[in-house]
Amino acid sequence: MKIAVIGTGLIGRSWSMVFARAGLDVSIWDAHPPAADAALDFIGHRLPELAELGLLHGRTPEAVLAAIKPAASLADCLAGAAHVQENGPERVADKTTLFAELDRLAAPDTVLASSTTAIRASAFTEALPGRGRCLVAHPVNPPYLIPLVELSPAPWTTPDTVARTKTLMEQAGMVPAVLKREIDGFILNRLQAALIAEGMSLVETGIADPSDIDNTVKHGLGLRWSFMGPFETIDLNAPGGLRDYVDRYGPGFSDMMAHSTVPSWSGASIERLHADRREAVPEAEHKARQEWRDRRLMALMAHKVTQPD
Ligand SMILES: NC(=O)c1ccc[n+]([C@@H]2O[C@H](COP(=O)([O-])OP(=O)(O)OC[C@H]3O[C@@H](n4cnc5c(N)ncnc54)[C@H](O)[C@@H]3O)[C@@H](O)[C@H]2O)c1
Repeated sequence: MKIAVIGTGLIGRSWSMVFARAGLDVSIWDAHPPAADAALDFIGHRLPELAELGLLHGRTPEAVLAAIKPAASLADCLAGAAHVQENGPERVADKTTLFAELDRLAAPDTVLASSTTAIRASAFTEALPGRGRCLVAHPVNPPYLIPLVELSPAPWTTPDTVARTKTLMEQAGMVPAVLKREIDGFILNRLQAALIAEGMSLVETGIADPSDIDNTVKHGLGLRWSFMGPFETIDLNAPGGLRDYVDRYGPGFSDMMAHSTVPSWSGASIERLHADRREAVPEAEHKARQEWRDRRLMALMAHKVTQPD
């Protein structure tokens, strides 16, 4: 099976590794040709590390790299592809233009998936003759280390398109979360927004410092969340399971959220949060810290792939 990866920046290059290590043929294309070379260079450097940690599904770095081939044109990239993963700029106008091209050039049964973070599929596929084969397949950065992918269909996306994408993603070792209908932010960013909003509110109202919010997640909630979700967490936190937990703590939770303050997401408190972060990680060290994050994720995934779910 051939996969076409369109746009080879941060996310496109990651997807290429995901599909290639699953034994699929990957064709890559970027509107800016040096970006495809840069992607191959990045992939070539990253694969040996992933192999060492057991994150290449038993394949060699050489075999995975050989499965990723730059295409001479968009049409060549799409020829014979069963699935297209689009990773262009996060702008509605760009996605609209690009999807019109993809729909015109790709075979009628090719699935067209966008990695968009925050744009609904309906915003850039409505006018397309092949809109039924379009959907969002939103990964988490970087998808070669974080398996979740959110599948968000437009109202006109066919059930077969969703089913085929789900099967492909599972075959590639990803874990799809399928939305029944579109909503801004899909699932992950709605959950993330709720947590960030509460953290900002606690800082804005002077209850806690930013570092205490981060510590609460990284040394508290986050430890459990790396292997179970919030519903399973509360199910295991009361002897009688989830219903018992809600009987005991539900009224308190309901009350605290009723009195929660909505943060402004702007102004002085954002400046304060930013300044706080730059004090912890100066601008010059920002890129190195991103590398550090990816290495921590690699170590965590190396552990997780050896554990039963
Ligand atoms: N960065 C993240 O954390 C993240 C996470 C999940 C999803 N996404 C989504 O993935 C998509 C790509 O984001 P990114 O972070 O990889 O951006 P990026 O800027 O790193 O890469 C975008 C690439 O698209 C190329 N490009 C521009 N116009 C194009 C066109 N018409 N056809 C083909 N390629 C084109 C650019 O040359 C560039 O290489 C966005 O929609 C973004 O919202 C990003």
